[in-house]
Amino acid sequence: MSAPFAFLHLTDPHLTPEGAEPLYGLDPGARLALAVADIARRHGPQGAAPASFAVVTGDLTHNAEPEAYARLRAILAGMPCPAHLLLGNHDERDVFRAAFPNAPVDARGFVQQAVDTPAGRCLMLDTKAPGTHAGRLCKDRLDWLAARLAEDQGPVLLFLHHPPYRVGIAGMDQIPLLDAEALWEVLAPHRARIRHLFHGHLHRPLSGSWRGIPTSSLRGTSHQVALDFAELPAVPGSHEPPAYALVRATAEDIVVHTHDFMDASGTFDL
Ligand SMILES: [Fe+2]
Repeated sequence: MSAPFAFLHLTDPHLTPEGAEPLYGLDPGARLALAVADIARRHGPQGAAPASFAVVTGDLTHNAEPEAYARLRAILAGMPCPAHLLLGNHDERDVFRAAFPNAPVDARGFVQQAVDTPAGRCLMLDTKAPGTHAGRLCKDRLDWLAARLAEDQGPVLLFLHHPPYRVGIAGMDQIPLLDAEALWEVLAPHRARIRHLFHGHLHRPLSGSWRGIPTSSLRGTSHQVALDFAELPAVPGSHEPPAYALVRATAEDIVVHTHDFMDASGTFDL
């Protein structure tokens, strides 16, 4: 059996500028800094489970100010591994690219990249669309995905902010990935080698599958979406604990460990 390849999944940090008013009563930067410190302790090179990189699946900032991206950059400097950043509906591509000029982009300037790993080729997609909180994958972005899928026939892990399915929480189901059918047309010929789809956007721990592709998401590192299936006029928020995930992948399996990094309940020997 091959040794696990480990990486981290974080999502929806919703950073605000240093010194900004609290967001829903908390400081998203302070929360992310706690996550990074916990990661440095547990998943750095000397930790019990070193991670090769982190993927942050979007909503990097809440209002996309340059100062919020600068704060993100400063906090992520404490990461013990590289962080691959995806855009969410709260982000602005141009502002992000100005703050992270070395972030990989595709030929059209979308924040998309392929990262080859022992667990498979990680394809990271840009679902940001101007003027809406829903997600889009236009023909240019899907052409990039099709080309990346065509040039390598190995296993694939997908990452994107918006999920391609509805989850039953009314306010979130109004702003999913709107181009799910077009995405499926690109993915379907490769279905057998797509191992997992990691997404953000929902600020909730959940897992399942989409047309046979295993999926997972998790709580954001800041505020959360409440588990409420009523037809509410707004997205229901909550202050459930924030989390990040450690993903361990071998050739045979993928295990996603969700970790509530602010939990202080203690441990003991069973
Ligand atoms: Fe979000």
